[in-house]
Amino acid sequence: MLIFDSGVGGLSILEDIKKTLPNIKYIYILDNEAFPYGNKTKCFIIQRSIKIIKTIKKNYPISITIIACNTASTVALSILRKTFNFPIIGIFPDIKHAEKISQNKIIGLIATQATINSSYIKKRTNKKNPNKNIQIISTNKLAVIAEKKIRGLIISKIELKKIFQKWIDLTIQPDTIILGCTHFLLLKKEIKEILYKSIYFVDSKDKIIQNVKKHFNRFNIDQKIKDNIFLYSKNNIELKKLLFFLKKYNFKEINYLKLISS
Ligand code: DGL
Repeated sequence: MLIFDSGVGGLSILEDIKKTLPNIKYIYILDNEAFPYGNKTKCFIIQRSIKIIKTIKKNYPISITIIACNTASTVALSILRKTFNFPIIGIFPDIKHAEKISQNKIIGLIATQATINSSYIKKRTNKKNPNKNIQIISTNKLAVIAEKKIRGLIISKIELKKIFQKWIDLTIQPDTIILGCTHFLLLKKEIKEILYKSIYFVDSKDKIIQNVKKHFNRFNIDQKIKDNIFLYSKNNIELKKLLFFLKKYNFKEINYLKLISS
């Protein structure tokens, strides 16, 4: 199984996949060279995702790919499925679930700029529907903050508060918040503190985990990968700070991956 994200966000998904399918073997690719995806164009995200899957496919016998990134999923998944002939599963902000569980019918959706601008989200947050009150925050900064937290760096509460100011200023705040980026799952505690009230988070993990489980059961996917491998697309000092956090994922190898040019 290949699982990829621009950064550490996808590891929060991997953790749950491992709990559901404990014998699974995986290659995690951290595309830190292109991080963050949120401020990139649709075309860039599509090309980049294709490049990653092609490079991995050339070097490793993968039979399924998990896009553990809302940005790449909302922007590129349909094209990726047309490009490759093996199962590709993505993660999407679960607006339907949020609508079902919200008591005050005010839903918050926070995601990267590229996700918010995607036609997938545009279609589902259509303002013409008077029954929908979806308060949107589009930010590329929160994923950067999550990367800092995982590396043990201090994160600024003031900076966090600025990101959420739009909701703090509302007379009635959303009671249900969709964390539309896998990085944000790593910041639940900090977000709760900023919003000062009991909120319910929709992290959209359940669907992707169920889909992965279904695929493995239904197709009896052959695990040709023997060890867990962690790959990164850029070697830098920031990467070293990540090694401690990676310990719990049992990676046998941690290597640089040179992406093929086309
Ligand atoms: N973790 C990502 C997501 O779910 C991408 C964050 C970024 O690279 O901007 O959207």
